[in-house]
Amino acid sequence: KGKRAFIAGVADDNGYGWAIAKSLAAAGAEILVGTWVPALNIFESSLRRGKFDESRVLPDGSMMEITKVYPLDAVFDNLDEVPEDIKTNKRYAGSTKWTVQEVAESVKEDFGSIDILVHSLANGPEVTKPLLETSRNGYLAAISASSYSYVSLLKHFLPILNTGGSSISLTYIASERIIPGYGGGMSSAKAALESDTRVLAFEAGRKRRIRVNTISAGPLRSRAAKAIGFIDMMIDYSLANAPLQKELSAEEVGNAAAFLASPLASAITGTVLYVDNGLNAMGVGV
Ligand code: NAI
Repeated sequence: KGKRAFIAGVADDNGYGWAIAKSLAAAGAEILVGTWVPALNIFESSLRRGKFDESRVLPDGSMMEITKVYPLDAVFDNLDEVPEDIKTNKRYAGSTKWTVQEVAESVKEDFGSIDILVHSLANGPEVTKPLLETSRNGYLAAISASSYSYVSLLKHFLPILNTGGSSISLTYIASERIIPGYGGGMSSAKAALESDTRVLAFEAGRKRRIRVNTISAGPLRSRAAKAIGFIDMMIDYSLANAPLQKELSAEEVGNAAAFLASPLASAITGTVLYVDNGLNAMGVGV
């Protein structure tokens, strides 16, 4: 029986979420995605108008089908938490049922269960500010959108994740090594995400035999990364210093995610898997 995946954090064809969707689709999975509400209209109309057709092509020549796109804002767990200004915001008013709890309920109603949960989203409003200049609100917003969003997603999807299923998030080495420029509490948010990966692996493993892993990915010129402002420098740095001197493709991260989601990884849980051309292993620049 084919597996079903829900991938949170796909709004164009440039990011890791899209690449993971493709690798899972190539391996035979049915694809559902969660798209940030403010980005939903553009994403759906681009999909409809064929703007992504070229990047939908799979290795066997067929096209990736996205069975359903769900609006999602992962900083809200349920309707009670949504403030008035968001409820009435033009970009939100056109959609319904986009809180984490409602999306999980909708997926349950539509499909019953899933096998693979992917969290490929992050947001830090003050990411360009050094930690010493980050406000409390900016720091907490980064943690809410980039770390707790994963706890919440797994919590709400756990009851519909089939036993033996797998959950994957994306992290960055700025959690454990100093990467100047990855500010606003985003380094802290990734540290929390990695620690939570271990604790959630225990809890979800004991509760439902679900595996929980995170991929520490190298630099990719995604929409989110371009907003940080130093992505070209990070790609150049990796090219100059990593053991493997090639640009990292999103597909390589997608394939690692497909491996982690597969039975080939059936004893792997609670890990941080580096998919970064080996850059993490270097002690000095060369
Ligand atoms: P991306 O822009 O493709 O993905 C980020 C997604 O998060 C976007 O689709 C955005 O709409 C969505 N999003 C933001 N706030 C949201 C919210 N409140 N609710 C729902 N969705 C929300 O960019 P990218 O870089 O592929 O990011 C995916 C993951 O990969 C992130 O966790 C990021 O930190 C991680 N990563 C990225 C690296 C890079 O160099 N691009 C390196 C290492 C990790």
